[in-house]
Amino acid sequence: MSKKPFYLTTPIFYPSDKLHIGHAYCTSVADTIARYKRLMDYDVLFLTGSDEHGQKIERKAQENGVTPIAYVDKIVASFQQLWKKLNISNDDFIRTTQERHRKVVQNIFQKIYDQGDIYKSAYKGWYCTPCETFWLERQLVDGKCPDCGRPVEVLEEESYFFRMSKYQDRLLKFIEENPEFIQPVTRRNEMINFIKGGLEDLCVSRTTFDWGIPVPFDSKHIVYVWFDALVNYITAAGYLDDREKYKKFWPADLHLVGKEIVRFHSIIWPVILMALGEPLPKQVFGHGWLIVEGDKMSKSKGNVIDPVALIDEFGPDAIRYFLLREINLGLDGNFSRQALINRINADLANDLGNLLHRTLSMVGRFRDGVIPAPGEKAAVDEELEELCNKTVKNYQATMDKYDITTTLKDVWVLISRTNKYIDETSPWALVKQVDQASRLDTVLYNLAETLRTIAVLLSPVMPTTAEKIWQQLGMPDDLWTVRICDITTFGGLKAGIKVNKPQQIFPRIEEREESESAESSTSVQETPKIETLPEVSIDEFAKLDLRVAKVLAAEKVAKADKLLKLEVDLGGEVRTIVSGIAKHYKPEELVGQSVLMIVNLKPAKIRGIESRGMVLAASIDDKLAVVTVPDMPAGSKVK
Ligand code: MSP
Repeated sequence: MSKKPFYLTTPIFYPSDKLHIGHAYCTSVADTIARYKRLMDYDVLFLTGSDEHGQKIERKAQENGVTPIAYVDKIVASFQQLWKKLNISNDDFIRTTQERHRKVVQNIFQKIYDQGDIYKSAYKGWYCTPCETFWLERQLVDGKCPDCGRPVEVLEEESYFFRMSKYQDRLLKFIEENPEFIQPVTRRNEMINFIKGGLEDLCVSRTTFDWGIPVPFDSKHIVYVWFDALVNYITAAGYLDDREKYKKFWPADLHLVGKEIVRFHSIIWPVILMALGEPLPKQVFGHGWLIVEGDKMSKSKGNVIDPVALIDEFGPDAIRYFLLREINLGLDGNFSRQALINRINADLANDLGNLLHRTLSMVGRFRDGVIPAPGEKAAVDEELEELCNKTVKNYQATMDKYDITTTLKDVWVLISRTNKYIDETSPWALVKQVDQASRLDTVLYNLAETLRTIAVLLSPVMPTTAEKIWQQLGMPDDLWTVRICDITTFGGLKAGIKVNKPQQIFPRIEEREESESAESSTSVQETPKIETLPEVSIDEFAKLDLRVAKVLAAEKVAKADKLLKLEVDLGGEVRTIVSGIAKHYKPEELVGQSVLMIVNLKPAKIRGIESRGMVLAASIDDKLAVVTVPDMPAGSKVK
């Protein structure tokens, strides 16, 4: 049976400037959906590209003293590099300056003209060049562009007009009968109101500059850049040159666009298609904006974030994960460096990184690196199995709604549960009991199987990380040939596979501020070479109040050759403590030292003296040294 097609697109971006993190957000969402659909065994066509014509680009090129094509060539190359760096899996990249596109735009323009839906008249009104949009006097807000708030220019020129008004009722009916066509619902309501306000015929040609596709029957005119741009979606689907492909992929399943251009996609574009007698796209989804520290990104505010620098610093997957986890599709979301670092440390380095590292190091140490076949099962194993199966099921439900944020939250519930499963089953204890070998096999198998599932679930969002996990688990098949049916029932992993040595997938980002606000996390990285006490979480560690204490006085405790009684200053409070260090220190050696102390230890009576705290010391065999922190004031906290 042939696969079901799925065609999705991003907006084609203006190469007037380099792209910023907002554009990267849109394309990361689209890429995640494309990869998810491939995982669901669809035949996917994923398109992005560049919108290269228009007055804005022509002016930019003039300012830079180069031809428009030389100007855009350079910037478009930077788009393509960015998408490569971000691991965007687009199947095609359309440039509106390509010949394949010019042919389609001219063909369509001619066709609509021939049927009488394009006519010549004179335009008098306003134009916003940054938005490439025509406005009527009454639509301006304080004399400025109602969309971007920038100044508009007066325009008076002979133009061709597209009879949009003729299609108003048909369009409204279509939108009302197809509730999924415009999403989210807030945008849908906006569009319905807009259409009810009346559709004007649209000016679709310009004569006062050259940078565009000539109107086929009147070369003095060039096609209006939005008419030109929207058509890209059918050019790439093969409208003129590959009818079979076109039949397969058109209408598109999803046009993912920013909320500010939903109007072009759900009004102008459908009317062009109606005029052509072509089916309308199944959905236009308007995503929200990425706001930087509470403000919209703009060059003049100097808060534009360069995605290339971020990817170089943190890697593509950390950026993709952050954007998709933090921003609910359809709503605006905030970008902040600190929030990004918090996510990397808490979710990626700790939760996910630890799970992989602990699992692989235990399979390595306890079973010579070979994933064992599962043995005896306990209730805790069944619980993990069920959660794993449920997560895969819910994953499809939330991803089908493009609710990627909820999807990721759910996957992290599974990751945290699996980390807890390690603590609950204590494989390091099982390995010491001969009669527990079968239980240990089950635990190690279950951990590897859950990680295999997690790798597949994360592959649409974090393709590089998923591949790394896959490789470290020693999976023999190509991750990108795996389909959802391969993980729907727990237990699909074959025993006997040799895993590789664990390698860190996300290093912790050590920045001063982040330690204060880092979110609750799980455990510290396990080192395979030494036996440690059971892990504690950062929250548990934070319960210990460690401070610097200055020793004011020290004396031996009568009839106890190991004990010293110390008077210490904690920066505002003097306490008495008893410490078992008399064999290693003479009292006078300690006076004046700044030592480390735990101050919230329950008080204890030792030889009749109430000791309120404990001095920290390092010891091995019969050596001991008190931990001192010279030059630190009494009362300093240890964090
Ligand atoms: N060329 C037109 C689109 C034509 S589509 C047929 C255009 N280009 S653009 O370069 O301005 O890109 C606009 C798109 O970039 C938005 O719709 C959105 O997808 C993305 N974003 C631009 N700034 C953004 C944010 N601050 N946040 C999120 N997305 C952002 O419009």
